[in-house]
Amino acid sequence: MKLWWENTSIYQVYPRSFMDSNGDGIGDLKGIIGKLDYLNNLGVETLWLSPFYKSPQSDHGYDISDYLSIDPLFGNMEDIMQLIESVHERGMKIIFDMVMNHTSIEHNWFKESRKSIDSTKRNWYIWRKGKDGNPPNNWKSMLGKSAWNYDKTTDEWYYSSFLSFQPDLNYDNKEVKETMLNTVRFWLDKGVDGFRLDIFNCIGKDESFKNNPFSFRYLPSPDNNDKAFFQNKIYSYNQVKSFQFAKELRCVIDEYQGRFLIGEVSGTDKILKRFIGDKGDGLHLVFLFQLIHYKFNKSYFLKLINTLEKVYPSPYTPTYVFSNHDVGRGINRVSNDIKKWKLLALFQLTSRGIPVIYYGDEIGMGNADIPMKDSQDPVAAEYRRVPKWLAEKLGIFINRDDARTPMQWSKSIYGGFCNRINAPWLPLIPNFKEINVESQLEKEDSMLNTYRKLLHIRKKSEALLEGKTEIIEKKGSVLAYRRFTHNESFIILINFSNKPETLDVENGNCEVIFSTDDNLKFDNKVVQMPPISGCIYSQR
Ligand code: GLC
Repeated sequence: MKLWWENTSIYQVYPRSFMDSNGDGIGDLKGIIGKLDYLNNLGVETLWLSPFYKSPQSDHGYDISDYLSIDPLFGNMEDIMQLIESVHERGMKIIFDMVMNHTSIEHNWFKESRKSIDSTKRNWYIWRKGKDGNPPNNWKSMLGKSAWNYDKTTDEWYYSSFLSFQPDLNYDNKEVKETMLNTVRFWLDKGVDGFRLDIFNCIGKDESFKNNPFSFRYLPSPDNNDKAFFQNKIYSYNQVKSFQFAKELRCVIDEYQGRFLIGEVSGTDKILKRFIGDKGDGLHLVFLFQLIHYKFNKSYFLKLINTLEKVYPSPYTPTYVFSNHDVGRGINRVSNDIKKWKLLALFQLTSRGIPVIYYGDEIGMGNADIPMKDSQDPVAAEYRRVPKWLAEKLGIFINRDDARTPMQWSKSIYGGFCNRINAPWLPLIPNFKEINVESQLEKEDSMLNTYRKLLHIRKKSEALLEGKTEIIEKKGSVLAYRRFTHNESFIILINFSNKPETLDVENGNCEVIFSTDDNLKFDNKVVQMPPISGCIYSQR
């Protein structure tokens, strides 16, 4: 029997954009509580909430000014307790985002730290003297500028891995570490089931502060940003002490029963596996981001399955991420084609490992196209001069607002996301009248019902939850694989091409239990697959 996190399904809620209960145009905790039945019905099992802690909201919550309280924008402690309880009442789990690497510049710790070099909090952050008016070394932030920020109060520089208003905490300071571990305990005591760890690869820094060496690579990629902006970040990313810290954190988590950690880390598979630990004694899971840049064809997915089976064999558990609040929405890569998106959902929910679904993926929400000048995203502000089309061509997502628009609940005003008084914080995608939960609930073959059916099949199937994977060689453009245990066996067929395909079925005694297309015909010996279609059949 697997532990719950080994075969759960994760659904990411971006609280600002999910459901607004008080009419201020910004989603909130009560809004999420009101939609728990929807989520339970959909069949997702673990909710991951992007940050809702107290924050000046300069990075919409990823800049925390108090880890132990709730930002009034989203609600209060009573609401979060109610949310945890209501999730548990439905047999679901909930994990929070934990931004351990940095705080907001508005955090009292930092305010205190920057006051003087003798401050008791000075060593809570990373301060260094400059070199002849220049930064202490060449380390770059994730966005490409120097990661050092000059502060004239003390004529020193502080370090920030992401944006300058997000100063990095100093984990070489035991007091910081202890305080943050206690922060984690604070929420575990309140009943949260685990954490998603924000930019965990940046947490440790090499004490020598030597310059990072040159790299030929300029552009970062979502699954590996260790080499970017002509720099190989060997001293500022993925330090041995970060792998060790993953284990320390795991020990804290293990003080409680049944909790878990999933890390946002980056690097080669070898590095990602070091975060998990040889004995599985580090982070339980890490996000695998290669699907962000998937290609819609058989050979891509065939290769992916083979690689994951080789690199992450059981008991490792791969994760499947098509979309999130940073990288955009997966359906955009197939030009918002719902038929194709259904096949990707079929792949995501029948593969061995954990599907991570971003709110709105289940109805086929795509990226918006918000002009850079109107964007509220601080990353877009950094890249304001870069033309969006160029960034898109280079595969970089520079206006994250495009993937953060309000959830499309219905065709009514503001898509049912908020009441009529205040407009939502971001405009809705104009297609909300056609693409919304209410209308898709009614249609048997909608995207929403596709996700729903697949999630429910997955939940009940031993083969999909715990089984092994075997590729079945087929000619042509159909990807075929088997998921099986001793008791159950399912074959998944995915026709990626625009042409119909006819395939023999090995073993006569079969039944189609799911299909993305009503015209898919199955006569016990032969499957006739329409273009861009997929199915699951069981073998008895
Ligand atoms: C992570 C978050 C992103 C945030 C950044 C800084 O990548 O997912 O939204 O802006 O870290 O915290």
